[in-house]
Amino acid sequence: MKMYIDSAVVSEVKEAAAWGIISGVTTNPSLAARAGQDYKSVLTEISALVSGPISAEVVGTTRGEMEKEGRELAKIADNIIVKIPMTSEGLAATAKLNNEGIDINMTLVFTLNQALLATASGASYVSPFLGRLDDIGNDGLGSLAEMVQGLGNYDLDVQVIAASIRGPRHASEAALIGADIATIPFKVLKQMMHHPLTDKGIASFLADWESLQAKLNKG
Ligand code: G3P
Repeated sequence: MKMYIDSAVVSEVKEAAAWGIISGVTTNPSLAARAGQDYKSVLTEISALVSGPISAEVVGTTRGEMEKEGRELAKIADNIIVKIPMTSEGLAATAKLNNEGIDINMTLVFTLNQALLATASGASYVSPFLGRLDDIGNDGLGSLAEMVQGLGNYDLDVQVIAASIRGPRHASEAALIGADIATIPFKVLKQMMHHPLTDKGIASFLADWESLQAKLNKG
């Protein structure tokens, strides 16, 4: 499973990219608002930091608005993927932009049916939101599993991005289910690398090394 960072904060993307683990980036209007900076400038900076796909989301609600915005976003850099929400207008805009050679990530996807429609319209990526389904008492991972299985029954040119990941277990489960990609917040990426036995092991290696040096210095 490839890992993307789900962030519009340039310093977070820079740090995660330096770890060598990031294959792409996803952003959305809420993440842009949290970052508090001009969206286009942020996308320009991020697309220079990470060579993989960078999802940039439209905010228009009609097909005409989405198409216009999508074309503008796609001009920012070669690796920009246009993120479009799952509505009938979004499907129409996806079909049109896909015909023009612009790759689409269809977002706010919660069911296999929505994923099938997104794929049929020409989306290259579908983004099921795990955490938001869990938030309303539904089964985010169950829904992801349905999409991976349902789309996997056919030879389709689409990748499933597990999104709305809220903790390290979501990431592990997404890999077990067979998601192509998980887009993961910076905080969760950091949680994924830590284990108390790793920290304990490092402390004990260092203590043993120090005691060896002390013994050698005495002798
Ligand atoms: O990429 C967007 C998605 O990951 C949103 O996550 O936590 O706002 O539901 P969240």
